[in-house]
Amino acid sequence: MYNRISQLLKKTVTDELVTVEGWVRTKRESKTVCFLELNDGSSLKGLQAVIDLETFADKPLLAKISTGAAVSCQGKLIPSPGGKQAVELAVDSLTLHGEAPAESYPLQKKRHTLEYLREIAHLRPRTNTLGAVARVRHAVSYAIHTFFNERGFYYVHTPIISTADAEGAGEQFQVTTLDLNNVPLLEEGGVDFSKDFFGQKAALTVSGQLQGEAYALALKNIYTFGPTFRAENSNTRRHLSEFWMIEPEMAFCTLEGNMALAEEFLKYIFSYVLENCAEDMEFFSTWIEKGVAETLQKVIDSPFVEMSYTDAVTELIKNNAKFAFPVKWGSDLQTEHERFLTEEVHNGPVIVTDYPKEIKAFYMKLNPDEKTVRAMDVLVPRLGEIIGGSERESRLDLLTERMVTLGLKPEDYWWYLDLRRYGSVPHSGFGLGFDRAIQYITGIQNIRDVIPFPRAVKQADF
Ligand code: 4AD
Ligand code: MG
Repeated sequence: MYNRISQLLKKTVTDELVTVEGWVRTKRESKTVCFLELNDGSSLKGLQAVIDLETFADKPLLAKISTGAAVSCQGKLIPSPGGKQAVELAVDSLTLHGEAPAESYPLQKKRHTLEYLREIAHLRPRTNTLGAVARVRHAVSYAIHTFFNERGFYYVHTPIISTADAEGAGEQFQVTTLDLNNVPLLEEGGVDFSKDFFGQKAALTVSGQLQGEAYALALKNIYTFGPTFRAENSNTRRHLSEFWMIEPEMAFCTLEGNMALAEEFLKYIFSYVLENCAEDMEFFSTWIEKGVAETLQKVIDSPFVEMSYTDAVTELIKNNAKFAFPVKWGSDLQTEHERFLTEEVHNGPVIVTDYPKEIKAFYMKLNPDEKTVRAMDVLVPRLGEIIGGSERESRLDLLTERMVTLGLKPEDYWWYLDLRRYGSVPHSGFGLGFDRAIQYITGIQNIRDVIPFPRAVKQADF
């Protein structure tokens, strides 16, 4: 049951009988032998199963086996004469569990485009690329929990259904059980949400941050790692409507500590992947994005450069002729600007800080200039923003004022404001988009190809 091909490939020859379970990637036959390349998802490389046709009696069974079939093979590991692999399996007996008729199986042995594979998302984990992505996602998840656990951060499970808009941007998916053909209305107009399931308007969360802050103000250092939902109408290669986010939050911590953690965190994850997913990283470096592993190593080796938004904009304005969207102070940075800062200005990761308050969320700490907030975005070459975070506004009066200015109702956020009423303290945190991190690590162009079943504008199949 626990015989995985990745383990068997490391073995030297043994005398014991082993059973190998997996799916046939290719079948090749000569007069005397039949080769099956088996893959069980545990590694990029498959195990070659060799069937001696002179002794193997059940030829009709073999005839039914083709690419995609599920089989288990029993036999002994022997030295592989070809030299392509150290060992191969000399098959004694074979069970065919499920056929995959060649006329209809959509994953024939050839290179398929990632666009085509998106249409068969239920079968694409059987390809080299998506299999490698799945293993890297797993490894990175494990590394993230290890990183925080080693540093005394507690994993907090924040709610998925929420009645607070954590980013205040109104990009939420509503959750309702109301009959959309017969919506209860208030006398003064509008929907009567008191009749809805939760007795109030509810939505899928855009971030676990606000509830995370409540736990940070009790356990000091916490993190969340969960699904996040955004109804942004942005059809880009780096946006999903459902993505996974990691959000650490630290009490007694200002932006400096936050930036230091973000840098240490990214470097830890990248190092972990290079050390533990070498085979898959080599695959990405060869077939997906030339030299992506070296890019990660470069990030690990470079100190992150800190730069204020104002300085960044000054730099960008000098190059406005190069951009589709010219920049002026106050404008939000687009991917092209973020990439310019990391690829042309600094040639490495950049942390941009102190953005104008108008383009950032309500909860960020106001600077003494009263124009900018203590925000930070971590930008990396090729991708742009990978992390967004800030020091939080821990002063009750300023936070309330900011909400009112933005048209948010302080009474809707009463419990969040309580955190400033009782035992408030400077605190900071950030969010790393998990899928964006995987996109960066693998070099895969479109974020839809690094998540098993992507949800995006007009896309929720499977
Ligand atoms: O910058 P964002 O919106 O920040 C927050 O949500 C804060 N609550 C985080 C915090 O301070 N605790 O999102 C954080 C990160 C982005 O930098 C990006 O990597 C990712 O989440 N992200 C997305 N990833 C995929 N698809 C989307 N639509 C994303 N929106 C944000
Ligand atoms: Mg952001």
